[in-house]
Amino acid sequence: MKILGIETSCDETAAAVVEDGTRILSNQIASQVEIHARYGGIVPEVASRQHILSIIPIIEQAMAEAEVTWSDLAGIAVTIGPGLAGSLLVGVNVAKAIALAQGLPVIGVNHLEGHIYANWLSNSSSRSVPDFPLVCLIVSGGHSDLVLMKGHGDYVILGRTRDDAAGEAFDKAARILGLGYPGGPAVEQAARNGNATSIQLPRAWLKGTGDFSFSGVKTALLRLVERGMASTAADAAASFQEAVVDVLTTKTVAVAKEHRVKQILLAGGVAANELLRQQLRQKSSISVLVPEPVLCTDNAAMIAACGYYHFQAGKIDGLDLDVIPSLRLG
Ligand code: KG4
Ligand code: ZN
Repeated sequence: MKILGIETSCDETAAAVVEDGTRILSNQIASQVEIHARYGGIVPEVASRQHILSIIPIIEQAMAEAEVTWSDLAGIAVTIGPGLAGSLLVGVNVAKAIALAQGLPVIGVNHLEGHIYANWLSNSSSRSVPDFPLVCLIVSGGHSDLVLMKGHGDYVILGRTRDDAAGEAFDKAARILGLGYPGGPAVEQAARNGNATSIQLPRAWLKGTGDFSFSGVKTALLRLVERGMASTAADAAASFQEAVVDVLTTKTVAVAKEHRVKQILLAGGVAANELLRQQLRQKSSISVLVPEPVLCTDNAAMIAACGYYHFQAGKIDGLDLDVIPSLRLG
């Protein structure tokens, strides 16, 4: 069963075809990074206009790469939120137009749920699929959520950030250190030449909860730089990355143990971070699954995978489907 996925929640215009919720037949992404880089962040109005230019060619490329026609598809899955309203509207309206013209069902997908389902994807048959119950750490530009899943579509939020999301913290740290945009990859790159023990940055443990807080470590970094106390940007980047990864991994492993789950999943753009991937595997005695980096950052294959499981559960939407920019999980 083949599903076309469409993702336009932020600054990537993406389309993909996925078979049976697991096998990627195509995965096309048009990134707007260079367009927004000159502003140091995403400009919503510019993003939605760019989605309008890219969406049809990207869908055509995804269909061509997968060697499918409309009649080969079982449905169209599209991100309805959370995200930028103007950006989401482009994907949802294109999905509905195709659904109407081709007589296909449309399936609205929560972007965060999509990130989790990147863990079901593979280009080959060798990768094992996740085992329930599991705990998933979703770390993206807008979210840091710890989620318990006992089955498909069953989410219990065990923790979330009380202020900045992990990705947002990386982006702000990069700005403080003058490392450019997008921040996560820039901090990771700079940290490669730095010493993570050179500067001691605070960690907010918020004991007894699954919640996170990253505004303290960000402010501590800012104060160091303002006082000229950070030896080099590389050392500061390495120390910052170490502090954020330490909290994320320690708390995720503790929560997973407490709930006696069979597996830990990692998801979202920050999951592309190599130190986070390594440390989670090192600290956990429970099996850890992490999507390949290109499937951690925004893509449409994860939306198609998630849409397949909705479809299997009979969760199909009508042409009144609308965007929900502040959509939550669970
Ligand atoms: O999931 P995503 O692509 O978009 C959202 O749904 O927000 O996540 C984007 C976030 C950005 O904050 C970006 O800086 C961060 O993920 N990110 C990283 C890395 N790659 C992307 N953070 C740390 N290390 C990385 N390698
Ligand atoms: Zn995302």
